[in-house]
Amino acid sequence: MSVTEKPPWKGPAPVVACIIPKDETERCDGDNRLLSHPLSQGAERLGVAGACRMSTPLRQEHAPPLRGLKALTTAFQFVSDPIPVMRSMYIERGLISAFGKINPLSKRERLVVMAIGPEYNRQILSDPDTFRARGMVLQGPQGSAHQRIRFGLISMNGEQYLQQRKLLIPPFHKKSMEGYHNAIVNLTEQMLGTWRDGEQRNMCGEMQALALRVASMVLFGGSDAEEAYQIGQMMKEWLAMCFRRRVWFFQVNIPGTPYRRLLGHAGRLEREIRAMIDRRRREETGGGDVLSVLLRARDENGNSASEGELIGQVNVIFAAAHETNASALTWTLFLLSQHPRIMAVLLDELESTLHGDAPRIDQLHHLALLERVIKESLRLIPPVVWSTRIVDQPVKLGPYFLPKGSRVLYSQYMTHHLPELYPNPEWFDPDRWLSTEPSPYAYLPFGGGPRMCIGYAFSMTMLRITLAMILQRYRLSLVPGARIDRKYAVTLLPKYGMPMMVHKQDRQFTKEIPRGNIHEMVDLATH
Ligand code: HEM
Repeated sequence: MSVTEKPPWKGPAPVVACIIPKDETERCDGDNRLLSHPLSQGAERLGVAGACRMSTPLRQEHAPPLRGLKALTTAFQFVSDPIPVMRSMYIERGLISAFGKINPLSKRERLVVMAIGPEYNRQILSDPDTFRARGMVLQGPQGSAHQRIRFGLISMNGEQYLQQRKLLIPPFHKKSMEGYHNAIVNLTEQMLGTWRDGEQRNMCGEMQALALRVASMVLFGGSDAEEAYQIGQMMKEWLAMCFRRRVWFFQVNIPGTPYRRLLGHAGRLEREIRAMIDRRRREETGGGDVLSVLLRARDENGNSASEGELIGQVNVIFAAAHETNASALTWTLFLLSQHPRIMAVLLDELESTLHGDAPRIDQLHHLALLERVIKESLRLIPPVVWSTRIVDQPVKLGPYFLPKGSRVLYSQYMTHHLPELYPNPEWFDPDRWLSTEPSPYAYLPFGGGPRMCIGYAFSMTMLRITLAMILQRYRLSLVPGARIDRKYAVTLLPKYGMPMMVHKQDRQFTKEIPRGNIHEMVDLATH
């Protein structure tokens, strides 16, 4: 049965034939909108554009999928800066919106749907059989090193996924954090020892270097932390290359192209990881780092991870771990520099509990304001702003009927900025956490459902230790006139770094308001 009704709105002619719905009430039009859905009835386009904040008055709308050139340019903008694209899609179209064919010549392209808010998050994240993971990094040619090193937990599904996740749980369990505590304290101490009173430093670079060292040491450190750090650098470069626009939009494997360079780099990286795994097997150090634990791990049937699985896991876990932590630390330091009153109260808490020392593991849970500050920072500027799934069997999502192969995006950032969930969403207000307890699908900096981040406990441990140590030792203030714009490549980071002045902690807190598009994300003027 094909659907012949004309849509009740003006828009591009339908070109996608709908897969046959189960019954009459589930029929959809040529745009894959369910005709029975209330949003399909007579919605008008609003046509609001622009980069206003989420507290702008909104109308819930529903419009046909973007197609052709408009879809292509929107996708192009999305890859380099997703936040304004998601925001204007939301303002124009409401909680759910769709792209149709981006390439008019492709026969295989399916709908891409962006869905926002706790209800859609719940539907997408709690049903991993329908909404399957695929990973965010581009696929690469069949059988290539790139394809092997991108294939870790984040893109696995089914039995293999369940078995691998089980193997990975022990090294990330809360109990294992004690083993990582010393490494985090020592590496933070080393970093702080290089800072001097009165100098200017790029805090983003500092936090990236620290997170890279911590991730390398804790995940693959073993006996040779420096070797792990060098491989960490190569992994970082691989990840950055994957998100370059000229790679993403020009995936042509011919000499001289950025795509070819990415594939070459992936080959070298794979060889290094293999060599590291081989050495670790031979040495049998019995170390507590994640790689050693993985090499020893067996599931209940006595199965261990294969060589191929280890290579993908090692790379993907590393990629997932270090930039996210660097992003969270950088933005938290920035937000505190913009809120001197909160900073002063936080310092009272830290000094009265820790007396200038690094926190012990048992003290971490006595730092209640620090916990609220971190929670609020991860809400306001989550390191991961969107994630994606692939539809594995036909399913309804809001007003759309999604055939197999459609892609769905959910957004941590957009959900966290919904004013109906978080009043004054652009304010940095740690005390909102005294009176709010959102559902796991309304607050999800670490994702949600059965595929929630396995590094959650590790990250919260590192963020608490590192921040407590930095803030007791130094007062950080933004360099006057600094421009803070965002940059997105897997995680959200400041495009031109985070220039800050470093002073011995003297409590002389001042606020230097920056320039830049940070003001679209955070209200720094009124609060
Ligand atoms: C502030 C730090 C972090 C943030 C904000 C963060 C965020 C996230 C998010 C949003 C997801 C879900 C993605 C999705 O739904 O597709 C995720 C998954 C994951 N994260 Fe993290 N992450 C952080 C730190 C870490 C660390 C330290 C590790 C490893 C040591 C890690 C390893 C993973 C893995 C392996 C997954 C995939 C889990 C699965 O699919 O079962 N993450 N993370």
